[in-house]
Amino acid sequence: MNRDVIIACDFASKEQTVDFISKFDGYSPYFKIGMELFYAEGPQIVYEIKNRGFKIFLDLKLHDIPNTVKKAMASLSRLDVDICNLHAAGGSEMMKYALDGLTRADGTRPLLIAVTQLTSTSEERMKNELLIDKPLKQVVMSYAKTAKDAGLDGVVCSPLEASDVKSTCGSDFLTVTPGIRFAGGDVGDQVRITTPARAKELGSDLIVVGRPITASPDPLASYLECIEQFVK
Ligand code: C5P
Repeated sequence: MNRDVIIACDFASKEQTVDFISKFDGYSPYFKIGMELFYAEGPQIVYEIKNRGFKIFLDLKLHDIPNTVKKAMASLSRLDVDICNLHAAGGSEMMKYALDGLTRADGTRPLLIAVTQLTSTSEERMKNELLIDKPLKQVVMSYAKTAKDAGLDGVVCSPLEASDVKSTCGSDFLTVTPGIRFAGGDVGDQVRITTPARAKELGSDLIVVGRPITASPDPLASYLECIEQFVK
């Protein structure tokens, strides 16, 4: 897949979202719909964005028993988005069921990627709260390998882990990387972060950028800066 920039539409309402995406007329960003927006507006917001011709990453991070995830993925598949995801921590059986649910009668399906460890999670928090004693990088690689073996298309990880994921799982295995900040930008709640330019050097396929674009005084200019650093 060609490198691209995904803008995280972390907004509370359809009105705010439509107002925001109208700034990108004439451009072709990928938009990410996450929990905040989907829970507020439901499937209608997917159609709103799709009808304008934009690609969509539906970031709902499913994590439940395999049968529930399979049925939920079947519902999401009908929305005809481009990428869906789940938490790798749900295990390989859940991932296989998810793929099954996502696959339509004609054999097509959205791409399915797995969240390894959230980019807001530090190694210390993983140890102290999740009681996972292994080094964070090893955990991310193991989750990525499990996702690859289950038949998934890639993972969500930190850009700092992208090249190792590629070495472990192959160059075609997608690395979708949030935790992007401009040099000197506000870090917020993210921990494992880097710039768009560095994410390119590290081998990310798709960067997910939220607040550096959505909270920018000029979102289009910030998006184009991401394109300049990451895609060109
Ligand atoms: O505003 P910011 O650039 O930090 O937004 C990052 C986006 O990526 C958010 O929508 C967040 O939910 C999402 N995300 C993440 N870390 C993951 C998976 C998704 O930050 N591991």
